[in-house]
Amino acid sequence: MIVNTELEQKGNLFPSAIKTYEKDVDTLYFTTENNVILQLTVIRDSVIRFRYSTTGKFENDFSYGITIHASRGYNFLEISENETHYIITTSKLICKVEKISLQVSLYDAVDLKLINEDEIGFHWEESYEFGGDIVKMSKICQKSESFYGLGDKPVSVNMKGKRFENWVTDSYAFGKDTDPIYKAIPFYTAIQDNKSYGIFFDNTFKTHFDFAQERRNVTSFWAQGGEMNYYFIYGPKMEDVVANYTDLTGKPHALPPLWALGFHQCKWSYYPESNVKEVTKTFRDLKIPCDAIYLDIDYMDGFRCFTWDKNHFPDPKRMVKELENDGFKTVVIIDPGIKIDLEYDVFKEALDKDYFCKRADGPYMKGKVWPGECYFPDYTKPEVREWWSGLFKELIEEIGVKGVWNDMNEPAVMEVPNKSFPDDVRHDYDGNPCSHRKAHNVYGMQMARATYHGLKKYAYPKRPFVITRAAYSGTQRYTSTWMGDNIATWEHLWIANVQAQRMAMSGFSFAGSDIGGFAEQPQGELFARWIQLGVFHAFCRVHSSGDHGDQEPWVFGDEITDIVRKFVEIRYQLLPYLYTAFWSYINNGTPILKSLVLFDQEDPHTHYRSDEFVYGDKILVCPILEANAKGRRMYIPRGIWYNFWTNEVVEGGKEMWVDADLDSMPIFIKEGAVIPKYPVQQYVDEKKFDKITLDVYYKNGKEKSQLYDDAHDGYDYKKGRYSLRTFKVTGKKEEFILQQHKQGKFDANYKEFHIIFHNLPFKITSIQIDNVEIDFSHLKNTKTKSIIINKEFTEIHLSGK
Ligand code: NOJ
Repeated sequence: MIVNTELEQKGNLFPSAIKTYEKDVDTLYFTTENNVILQLTVIRDSVIRFRYSTTGKFENDFSYGITIHASRGYNFLEISENETHYIITTSKLICKVEKISLQVSLYDAVDLKLINEDEIGFHWEESYEFGGDIVKMSKICQKSESFYGLGDKPVSVNMKGKRFENWVTDSYAFGKDTDPIYKAIPFYTAIQDNKSYGIFFDNTFKTHFDFAQERRNVTSFWAQGGEMNYYFIYGPKMEDVVANYTDLTGKPHALPPLWALGFHQCKWSYYPESNVKEVTKTFRDLKIPCDAIYLDIDYMDGFRCFTWDKNHFPDPKRMVKELENDGFKTVVIIDPGIKIDLEYDVFKEALDKDYFCKRADGPYMKGKVWPGECYFPDYTKPEVREWWSGLFKELIEEIGVKGVWNDMNEPAVMEVPNKSFPDDVRHDYDGNPCSHRKAHNVYGMQMARATYHGLKKYAYPKRPFVITRAAYSGTQRYTSTWMGDNIATWEHLWIANVQAQRMAMSGFSFAGSDIGGFAEQPQGELFARWIQLGVFHAFCRVHSSGDHGDQEPWVFGDEITDIVRKFVEIRYQLLPYLYTAFWSYINNGTPILKSLVLFDQEDPHTHYRSDEFVYGDKILVCPILEANAKGRRMYIPRGIWYNFWTNEVVEGGKEMWVDADLDSMPIFIKEGAVIPKYPVQQYVDEKKFDKITLDVYYKNGKEKSQLYDDAHDGYDYKKGRYSLRTFKVTGKKEEFILQQHKQGKFDANYKEFHIIFHNLPFKITSIQIDNVEIDFSHLKNTKTKSIIINKEFTEIHLSGK
């Protein structure tokens, strides 16, 4: 038993020595003399679950975070025992459990090096006020260890030296370091000695994380209730840690429709209909591509969800159809607060069926939101989710709305000090009744889940699109997300960048900020710089409160309009690249944005970088985050990169100055990359094209790229109607080979590739396509070496010998 008087004096309790040990297939139970149980489950060779009870028995094992689709199974499992320890060995990990204290240490099974060890390890404090325990875990933090993840925290990418809380909170005009804000994602990855591991603390109560802030050599996490229940995920590559976490908590159930990856325009609020039409028309007139227009709360009748204000929107079905004919999908907001109004059918039905949340002693949970006094459905009850899903029938099936935006689902309550429900509110929690202390962090997630199922059903055979503000781990299965109410300041541009990276490293890649800032109004320069960043986020939407003026791309003058158009066009050209990155995310759990540490963890220079990131796996981006900048210094990761604008060759592994006037930003392409590009369109699938471009960048060596494609909507891709092209380049001094391998049954409309070879270091003397020599005399005097060929080629061989 650990003796730590200071901690004991503070009321902490500790496990004593192990008394019994039992094994049930992949799960081991270690019970101590004071009735603590450690339940240790080997989920995969690199994933172990640790679950502790202080009472000699466990509560029902239920999690909203873990998906039923998570991969399970290991290649090797051996359990042994020596005098002091139990030793659990898989093909990736060795886990030692100390007999006298239950303390755990984890080693790499290959090189036997220590990855992570308990400091005190599990301990707890009894909670007299609420019953149960405050459960705690402390780990040794190594000197050179760094920490990443935790969802939307608006802080530098590396969290070392900081402490955080997870409690989803409506945080209007939050700032740098505000904590907590909208999301609760109790997952972090750490890296030390080129080994990365992650910890997912699957506990929905208020959780806390301390990354060597209180004590320099200790990392700890604890929760205000529930169980100490965490998953240890080993890499050693950080990308694999994130992928395994994403596998555990779920990849998105389906690809988004491609239009959802286009540019979206939003404001609080576009109304009446004529105003909506004016905005969409201006996009088309000015030729700024755009796929979606959003309706905020004012489209409703008195802010009653699932109703329309008939004065401003007399015929929503016609309007939605007309917008669609012009290439715009309509997305509408739906909040959880249901107006108390006996004349309002949604309210009446939920009341009759007893679907609203109640206080501990029986009264309804009443709170003020936009419609005034409201009751709130208990989305943690399956029957309520089912009912809620059904409410979307008219909106989606009849009216033709294509996406739903769930807001205020923390749940936000106005004019109360804690901005949300009181702790005593009761929830079903899928048959595990509990108080709001336990359900708060998943309330928004369960609302978004129910919304998603409604859309999925009524949009069928099209794919659903949902966006949520509040989220717990696993919410990425159902929906996209944005970061809530930011501000139009340069600091918030920095925040938007770190948040999107952090979310991607937390398994939630389909994320973006309110471009331009929600509160206040940006100068044109800030707006342009924000667009430049935003087009490299998976979710790309301009949104603003509208309180301080307009925020459409054209309100800042012609120069800014042109810059916005230029960058939105780049987004549309790169859609096949983004779609491929999304495919890789939903198939392999690979984050769409990669902070430099995740991209190249071996290089310690990357561990503290926050500004630069890799978009997909081949494009390096670094936003300009200051006014009046003509460029900036940035870190280029190791390897050879090509300046996107000039094709200039840059050798990475160092910091350097990069020019970037207002109409530009630092973008680099990795050598050997094959980047697919569509022609510019005003909206997704506006045109049928006969060819698409492949930008191929020379490399002296080998590199692989992929291009995924399918019908851009619907589910046929799940039945094999997709195409996955793998491109391999092999470059030598005087030779360059591009090979293609195709999988899948889908055949895109286009027939050809326009292949542009960048930076070939030799003069071409022969070109062979699939072993046939072709005439290339037309290329001899051109600067750009490009060819147009049938898209089903197998091998192109350029020779300079
Ligand atoms: C708060 C949301 O964060 C914001 O995006 C929205 O415009 C307002 N609520 C009004 O619905």
